Amino acid sequence: MAMKIGFFGCGNMGAALALGIKKINPSVELYFYTPTQTRARDLALKTKGHFVEELGDMPEKLDWYILSFKPQSLAGFHFNFLPQAKLLSVLAGVSIETLAKKFSVSKICRLMPNTPSSLGMGANLFFGAPEVSENDNLSIRHLLEGLGSLFVMKSEEEIDQLTPFSGSGPALVFELARIFESELQKLSGGNIDAREIIAQTFLGSAYLMKHSSLSFDELRAQVTSQKGVTYEALKVLKENNLEDLFSEAFKSCYNRVTEIKEEIHRNNK
Ligand SMILES: NC(=O)c1ccc[n+]([C@@H]2O[C@H](COP(=O)([O-])OP(=O)(O)OC[C@H]3O[C@@H](n4cnc5c(N)ncnc54)[C@H](OP(=O)(O)O)[C@@H]3O)[C@@H](O)[C@H]2O)c1
Repeated sequence: MAMKIGFFGCGNMGAALALGIKKINPSVELYFYTPTQTRARDLALKTKGHFVEELGDMPEKLDWYILSFKPQSLAGFHFNFLPQAKLLSVLAGVSIETLAKKFSVSKICRLMPNTPSSLGMGANLFFGAPEVSENDNLSIRHLLEGLGSLFVMKSEEEIDQLTPFSGSGPALVFELARIFESELQKLSGGNIDAREIIAQTFLGSAYLMKHSSLSFDELRAQVTSQKGVTYEALKVLKENNLEDLFSEAFKSCYNRVTEIKEEIHRNNK
């Protein structure tokens, strides 16, 4: 029988998940709810799924329910899940313990996706509570393969620790790309397609990182001859402590994950 999955929230992540899941298993039946209806209706159309008009109309015996709204919306979200219901949450920084207490369910998995998941190219972190059976754990992991690579974490804490690198990571990469693009535009007076040149440079570099047997250090060294042009650029970055700056940014991001987690835990007691 086709698996049935209910979505609460159909924004960037909800849509990426629904489309990725449908790609891996076209027979899966999807149900979508959002408070303002538009995005749930659109996604239902795109996936040939069901648009759920009212929260209370979400069927209560689906195989999985996916929580894909903002963590801040959790306090105002109320749904009576059956005790045996299975939940997959993408809410950053919201622990399984918080969700278990709020909804009185124990079969909960967490997923930390990132935006490249919308193209099936994400680095997705996964953790399943011990209460989720091996079979259920495997079947939801299989469905998530359409989002990109799935990395199974040994503990829930690992998801939070890795959030600055996977969940937030693309934003840091895009910020670098923006700086490259802006500098190139300044230099060229806007006469060349800076965006395309930079996007292709990042894409090609990412392919090399993924497919070469060389370490990132060695790949950088391949482009950097002693006293050459790249050497000068890297020297400036080193003299200005780029690595320390990134280290601080990652720490700050992780601290915020911890703060949000505590805030949400307090608000959902
Ligand atoms: N974006 C990322 O890169 C990223 C990475 C990792 C994890 N996440 C996690 O993914 C989750 C969703 O992020 P997003 O970027 O997809 O957010 P988003 O684009 O803002 O979408 C949020 C969705 O949640 C819906 N919603 C709001 N309140 C709701 C409620 N009470 N019940 C059901 N649905 C509700 C919204 O409905 P309307 O359409 O009616 O407004 C909207 O469809 C967050 O928890 C975030 O931590 C995101």
